[in-house]
Amino acid sequence: MCDSIFDASGKEIGHPRRIRSFVRRGGRLTTSQQKALDDFYPVFGVQPGTDPIDLKNLFGREAPLWLEVGIGNGDALVAMAAAQPDKNFLGIEVHRAGVGHCLFEVNRLGLTNVRVIEQDAVEVLGQRLPESCVDRFLLFFPDPWHKKKHKKRRIVSHAFAQTVKRLLVDEGVWHLATDWEDYASHMVEVLDAESCFENMAGESGPWSPRPEYRPYTRFERRGERLGHGVWDLFYKSC
Ligand SMILES: C[S@@+](CC[C@H](N)C(=O)[O-])C[C@H]1O[C@@H](n2cnc3c(N)ncnc32)[C@H](O)[C@@H]1O
Repeated sequence: MCDSIFDASGKEIGHPRRIRSFVRRGGRLTTSQQKALDDFYPVFGVQPGTDPIDLKNLFGREAPLWLEVGIGNGDALVAMAAAQPDKNFLGIEVHRAGVGHCLFEVNRLGLTNVRVIEQDAVEVLGQRLPESCVDRFLLFFPDPWHKKKHKKRRIVSHAFAQTVKRLLVDEGVWHLATDWEDYASHMVEVLDAESCFENMAGESGPWSPRPEYRPYTRFERRGERLGHGVWDLFYKSC
């Protein structure tokens, strides 16, 4: 999170505005998204705020945790959770309609191993989760912020890498995927410079083949239609 600003006497006088990695999309919710939010956020959602999250209490069990930031509509989160009932899946997203869609699907499929938070991930990760609680950290198709003047809004940064490092268990894995080549190179540049992360691709790296567990999302299909490539990266916390 951002540091406070102090005056010459040491009095706290404010906080600098943090650069955000998202723009809140407006637009109306569909009836089913609104209904899913009303009916299922109290069941599968976590109240936004600053309170620490008790993961055992939240999921009602202890199991390896896979955490996805920027779930969009939740397509990947839901498919992974359905395929791997032995794991807990936590999704974070600021787009309300996407959270509604995800909750609709969680209920439709009767999944019990998914929880969702509608809040800025930077706040959740930095303030609300204990260290060494995540087995796999997933960041699929983060907003690319193509324009040069917007690159500072990219969520992958050295500060973000330190946050992810704090959350990952020893030898935990950060899986990133993007369809924007310049962002893929940026990810490698940032993470290769972090001594606490090791690229897992070996000599053929830095890119890794797409793993079977990563489902196709609408966003990825759209990129494919536009002729974009896809780059998967795996970094182990060391
Ligand atoms: C380009 S979309 C990709 C969505 C999804 N991963 C997919 O592949 O379909 C990126 C998503 O990240 C979300 N996002 C960006 N920054 C975020 C943040 N700081 N906290 C939570 N969600 C964020 C956006 O709202 C958006 O839905």
